[in-house]
Order: sequence, then C-alpha cells, then structure tokens
Amino acid sequence: MPQTPSPQTYRVQSFGCQMNVYDGDRMAELLDAQGLTPVAEGGDADLVVLNTCHIREKATDRVFSHIGRLKRDDGTAPLIAVAGCVAQAEGDEIMARAPSVSMVVGPQAYHRLPEMLSKAVAGHRVTDTDMPAETKFGALPRKRRSGPTAFLTVQEGCDKFCTYCVVPYTRGAEVSRPFADLIDEAHRLVEAGAREITLLGQNVNAWTGEDGKGSAVGLDGLIRELAEMPDIARIRYTTSHPNDMTDGLIAAHAEVEKLMPFLHLPVQAGNDRVLKAMNRSHTVESYLRLLERVRAVRPDIALSGDFIVGFPGETDAEFEDTVKLIDAVGYAQAFSFKYSPRPGTPAATMDGQIAAEVMDERLQRLQAALNRTQVAFNDATVGRTCDVLVERQGKFPGQMIGKTPWLQSAVVSTDAAIGDMLTVDITSGGANSVFADERISVPG
Ligand code: SAH
Ligand code: SF4
Ligand code: F3S
Repeated sequence: MPQTPSPQTYRVQSFGCQMNVYDGDRMAELLDAQGLTPVAEGGDADLVVLNTCHIREKATDRVFSHIGRLKRDDGTAPLIAVAGCVAQAEGDEIMARAPSVSMVVGPQAYHRLPEMLSKAVAGHRVTDTDMPAETKFGALPRKRRSGPTAFLTVQEGCDKFCTYCVVPYTRGAEVSRPFADLIDEAHRLVEAGAREITLLGQNVNAWTGEDGKGSAVGLDGLIRELAEMPDIARIRYTTSHPNDMTDGLIAAHAEVEKLMPFLHLPVQAGNDRVLKAMNRSHTVESYLRLLERVRAVRPDIALSGDFIVGFPGETDAEFEDTVKLIDAVGYAQAFSFKYSPRPGTPAATMDGQIAAEVMDERLQRLQAALNRTQVAFNDATVGRTCDVLVERQGKFPGQMIGKTPWLQSAVVSTDAAIGDMLTVDITSGGANSVFADERISVPG
C-alpha cells in the first residue's frame, strides 16, 4: 500500500454491545489525543474505525458490506481500521478479503491504535489481535468524555463457554480491573459530567477485587464504595450470570439506595435439557429461586433477560417452556435472538439444527410473550412517582427523554436540560416507554 497523508479527521462506528460502545469511546479518546478531529456519522472522515461485533452471523456480513461502501466525498477510500470482536475472530480473513482495510485490531489491543496508525500511514497493513498480559486500561488517555450516563468496564472476558457463544474466544478469559483504578475512573467520569454509571462486564457480577483497606470484595463492595461519591446519583450493572449472583449483591439491592432496581439476568431458555446442551450450568428452577430471592429484598425490581430460540435440537414443547418462563417471570424488558451457528463453537456442529421458518415462527411467538409482559410491567408503574435522569431531546419541542429507576424510557414535557434529574408521576405506559408529568415543586 502506498504512503497516505496523515489523517486529520476520524469516525468510530460501534456495532456491538455496551462494552463495544465503551471501547469505541476509548478509541475515540486515543485518536483525540493524537490531534485528530471527530466527524459525525455521514460526514467525510479521513480515518474510519469500524468497531465490530461477532455475536451473530449478520453482524459479520454487515461489516464486509460496510467496508465496501466506505467512500470519501472525493470518491477515494478513507483509511480503514477494523476493530472489535470480528477483528479478533476473523482478522486474517478481513485482511485477505478486504484490501482497503489497513488496520485490524482486537478488543484487547486497541491501546496500540496510535502506533498502528503511524505504520498504516507509512503504507503498511497491520494486524494486532494479541491478548497481552499488560492490560490496555493503563495505556489509555486519562481524560474521559461523558454525558449524564456513562459506562465503566469493570470486568472483561468469559470463562463460561456456553456452547453457542463466541465471546470467550473474542474477549478472552475473565479479568477484573483493580478497585483503585475503577474508583479513579469513576471520579474522572463524574468530572466529565456523569451522574449515572453503569458497570460493565461480560459477567459483571463475577468481578472481584481488594478494596482500599485490603479486604477481598465482590461487585457489591465496589457498588457500595461508588455510592459514597456524592456526585454519583445512580448505579447500574450489566450483564450478570445467574451463577455469580452473590448474597452480598442481592443484599445491596435492598441496602444501597443509589443502586437502581433493575437486573438484567440472561436465562436463554426455559427448559433444562436445552440449558444443559447450552452448558448454562443453571436450571430453570435455580434461576427462578434466584429471582425470588432478589424480589424478596427488592419487590419492585425490574427484570430483564436474553433469550435464544431454535438452539439445535430444541423441540416445540421445549420452546413452549421458554414462553411459560417468560409469563411466569413477567420481564420488564428483554432481548431475544434466533440461534446463529458461530464457527468454532460446539453448538455449530450439533445435530438437529433448526429450520429458518421454525426459528422465525418461534421468535415471533416469544416476542409476543415478551411484549405482553413488558406492557404489563409498564402499566403497573402508572401512578408511581419517581425520578428521571434527562438524557436527550424527544421528538417534539419541549419534550425530553430520560430513564426511570426501572430503566424505562420516560417521555416528559419539561424545560429541563440534558443531565437534569426530575421528579415525575408516570401517567401512561406502552410496550417500550412510559409518559410522565413533571412534578413542579412549590417553594415554601
Ligand atoms: N454474558 C454476556 C452475553 C453476551 S452475548 C454479556 O455480557 O452480555 C449477549 C446475548 O447474545 C447472549 O446472552 C445470548 O442471548 C445471545 N447470543 C450469544 N451467542 C448467540 C448465538 N450464537 N446465537 C444467538 N444468540 C446468541
Ligand atoms: Fe457467552 Fe455464556 Fe459467556 Fe455470556 S456467559 S458471554 S453467553 S459464553
Ligand atoms: Fe459483540 Fe463482542 Fe460484545 S461479539 S456482543 S461486541 S463482546
């Protein structure tokens, strides 16, 4: 590849989970520190970083078609970096199939992006999918950018090896970031304007560390410490694994006021044979018992989950068990997916792969069930008074949108600005949001 002028502008596009978005923001900060200027989506950027997700098939196809469509206003191709989990899993194939890509960088190596960029400008094509022993976090710029809500990666990687999932291969083994580093990063997020912090991890509740006094603590210890920071109003965490849900974390839901009443706890399926084939290492019964314990200490908790339909060998009756589970739990929100065979995972070569039409039909039925429970949850919150942290403008003038404690999107007519915390009364609910009236406090 010939030498290219140094890029002046860049765009990072993130396609994956919340951690992928967090990583995208860190790459943006690295490029800011190199003196590059960010350009919004649709704008003409000299460098485009595609921060990819490998979790399901279409995500990968989208990356290839995206690469093909990247053009600058003058018709030339920008410098292209492919980052994220597709880069990790299929870096060599990307380099082979997409000659316009000059950098491939995995999720554990993106702190080296500036060095890679110098090499790319000199005309080299560079791949870095190492999982180095030193973590990237220490090498990232200290300055944080943040809106009123911020993500903070506390744990990364997965040792669970569910038979359908690529994450243990793309993100590597479970690693917890040190307590002191996390407190430090939380301070920087608050300085940048964050009022709500969502702690992130592929198995966030597996986080462990040593607090300031040298005692071993779990995620609840970290949450309790963050709750002491006056400028943090709300704390959330995601995604949890049922097997790592400790007594301490459950107790924190009763005791820590700033910890929001919301729990995303994926179950995937409502049938024990399927769960076993998925290597989930929990049963329907143990999952339900766990939810009962959480509800006992925090009766208003909003529950969320992830579901997969059409896992190899799943029968109609086994699928019906998942629908029953959804009705029994009454999820406030959920993500549901058609099973997608991923190269290199055990499930991809299992017998009994399910036909596309069957998957479509099951997904529709499942989503109808989730829709029912979501509407019921939102309806049940009508009449409650709660706070809403304003995140963005609504569709109409004078309308703002923010989240309730239960992570519902609330539409409020108000003069308030982004970042304000409002007290509201919820007046009506739909499947995906609620409407709320601002309480006007009368002085004196
Ligand atoms: N514990 C992780 C899960 C990551 S993947 C976390 O941090 O969120 C998110 C969800 O994608 C999983 O819970 C699962 O429901 C879904 N998923 C993973 N692999 C999949 C596959 N091969 N096909 C369909 N859905 C999948
Ligand atoms: Fe994937 Fe299972 Fe690990 Fe979640 S727990 S990241 S679904 S292997
Ligand atoms: Fe996707 Fe990687 Fe997240 S595969 S879901 S971006 S961990």
